Amino acid sequence: MLKIAVIGTGRIGRMHAENIAAHPRAALAGVYDIHTPSATEVAEKLEVPQFESVEAVLASPEVDAILIASSTATHADLIEAAVAVGKPVLCEKPIDLSLDRVNACAARIKDSNVPIMLGFVRRLDSGHAGVREAITSGRIGDLHQVIITSRDPDMAPDAYMEVSGGIFRDMTIHDFDMARFILGEEVTEVAATGSRLVKPELMEKLDDYDTVTVVLKTASGKQAIINNSRRAVYGYDQRVEAFGSAGMAISENHAMTKVRLFGADHTESAPPLLNFFIERYDPAFAAEIGAFVDAVEQGTQPPMTFEDGRQALILAEAAIKSAKEGRTILTKDIG
Ligand SMILES: NC(=O)c1ccc[n+]([C@@H]2O[C@H](COP(=O)([O-])OP(=O)(O)OC[C@H]3O[C@@H](n4cnc5c(N)ncnc54)[C@H](O)[C@@H]3O)[C@@H](O)[C@H]2O)c1
Repeated sequence: MLKIAVIGTGRIGRMHAENIAAHPRAALAGVYDIHTPSATEVAEKLEVPQFESVEAVLASPEVDAILIASSTATHADLIEAAVAVGKPVLCEKPIDLSLDRVNACAARIKDSNVPIMLGFVRRLDSGHAGVREAITSGRIGDLHQVIITSRDPDMAPDAYMEVSGGIFRDMTIHDFDMARFILGEEVTEVAATGSRLVKPELMEKLDDYDTVTVVLKTASGKQAIINNSRRAVYGYDQRVEAFGSAGMAISENHAMTKVRLFGADHTESAPPLLNFFIERYDPAFAAEIGAFVDAVEQGTQPPMTFEDGRQALILAEAAIKSAKEGRTILTKDIG
């Protein structure tokens, strides 16, 4: 039984806390949030201790490992602090919005063998993992192209957008990781373009985009296309397609129901897609806790690593530069 404490009990932290509490091989050692009422609510609901500080979490003999689900700006400091006391970490994405900070963190933890897993949960989605498996088992021949569609149901609140770090670091980061996972090779070239079509005034003010397309290429010529929108009125649109010399594999959307209706004025009519990441990736988030427990207890490499987080951020930086300068960026020139 791995005793895991959760730091940060906001939108995603409380879901992780519930998943840990429900997991047969994990126990929720307690929670901490700088916003005390938030932690109190979760601690009372799940009947676990509430820690008074990060230091108390790190020092507790009742805590074997730490799940970091606090705001992005806290992640790198908390990873370093946990590694310093030898406690394994499962950290939400991204590691940080600054590649320099991520590189500094990497340098500080490089001699440690404390397991660090990154929350690129989509790798654990059975559909997306099935696409990867179709490639590695040779069922679609040599991989040529990948298409990743990732559209949120709606814009996050303005206050979130203001600190998000921009669409490439905040949202596309998941798709950069998915592209690396499906391609099975490092990306060498990035070409990106962005538009302000959903909330033009806010995007203008933040020098950000709400609608982007990115083309990635590997040294061997494999290509991936990512398309993102901050607003898809029909729900959370999450699809992955891999095309190869001998076929194609597709991971489809999840709908609220499998029933499709046909009538005089419609065919294939169905309700909107599942609303957002907590609903769509619910089984993958549960599997993430199991994968973390396995990595810690068996001493194996986690399926999503700190380096995966760093590489995804390199692709985000390349995409930002590409969209700004209107040219293809070589990843070797970043970071
Ligand atoms: N994997 C995914 O699909 C996914 C989805 C959403 C969010 N995230 C990531 O998870 C993290 C949290 O996102 P969220 O949507 O839950 O945000 P949120 O704002 O709802 O929650 C963040 C919580 O962290 C707390 N916090 C801030 N500073 C703290 C500190 N120093 N110590 C302890 N607690 C602190 C806040 O009080 C808040 O309760 C972000 O890094 C975000 O990028 C990942």
